[in-house]
Amino acid sequence: MSPLLGKDGKLAITDEKLQLLNTLLSRQGEFVSGQEIAEKMGLSRPSVWKDIQYFKALNYRIEARSKVGYRLIGVPDILHPLQYFPFLNTRRYGRTCYYHRVIDSTNREARRLIERGVPDGTIVIAEYQSKGMGRWGRKWFSPFGKNIILSLILFPSLEATSASLLPFLTGVKLAQALEEETGVHPSMLWPNDVLFARRKIAGILVESAFRQSDLEHVIIGVGVNVNSSLVDFPGGLQERVTTLREILGRPTSRQKLLAVFLEKMENGVRAMEEGKASDILEQWRFYADFLGDPVRILLGDSREVRGTARDVLPDGRLLLRTDSGDLPVDASEVISLSLK
Ligand code: BTN
Repeated sequence: MSPLLGKDGKLAITDEKLQLLNTLLSRQGEFVSGQEIAEKMGLSRPSVWKDIQYFKALNYRIEARSKVGYRLIGVPDILHPLQYFPFLNTRRYGRTCYYHRVIDSTNREARRLIERGVPDGTIVIAEYQSKGMGRWGRKWFSPFGKNIILSLILFPSLEATSASLLPFLTGVKLAQALEEETGVHPSMLWPNDVLFARRKIAGILVESAFRQSDLEHVIIGVGVNVNSSLVDFPGGLQERVTTLREILGRPTSRQKLLAVFLEKMENGVRAMEEGKASDILEQWRFYADFLGDPVRILLGDSREVRGTARDVLPDGRLLLRTDSGDLPVDASEVISLSLK
């Protein structure tokens, strides 16, 4: 099992910690003596105590009774690798994780980590962002500890020309993961908003860096509204967003959803690298039920264009039918897009 990196890049999770947690979990509610744990794991009792403190700091509820041992009473709902790892079926994606309770933005942290050097497939997770970034210069708000806030760092073997397809691939994989895990059938709005009943359920922010004709690195930022309620969002957003909890009336496992999404992404990027992903846009169209509908687009130069969304072109541009003919629109020129 590969080591998992924690905050500040220090080794946070070792096999030893995972083993300790598994022991406590398998006997949840029962006291397990420090001596027994120490012997089983070949550790000193002070090291066991130190590991217990690590879990307590993450809000695991562990009762320590002198001369008796430790008892696990409660497991927090956190997106820590300890909790999504059991569901993870990937070779690299999500195997190295920087977990934060609070951070400015996971995409910003991903940029900083790339400077320091991290492996392909590293993820940054946060329970809350103080400066979450959305596309087109907007903010991304997500209440503490209820949703998925993720940045995936990739160093793919792809040509720069494929970069425009990565947001579509991400949208498709996220929609598929949502559908598979919850039965909810989302729709895509160009280029990669994930909606349900015309309300936003997830957003994707892809940042790419190039070296000559190749992709140097990619940061795929994903925010999914999972277990929050509408009242957790500020007033202005409540009419525009939705969450899985609102749709289903019950909580969804963030840990499982994350793991399934990472697995689909890993397979999807590998297929792209092997030149076997010519159907990405076709798959995206399956979810893009706004095609054929009237839309209004605000461009960076303050121009507004109205027309009918006809299709997405092979390079990812939206083909808009306007009164004066067909107009291909590049996502980088757009400030906002709304359905009429
Ligand atoms: C959008 O729809 O405007 C894109 C929203 C992307 C939000 C995610 S949350 C994780 C990652 N970190 C950020 O600061 N933004 C992205």
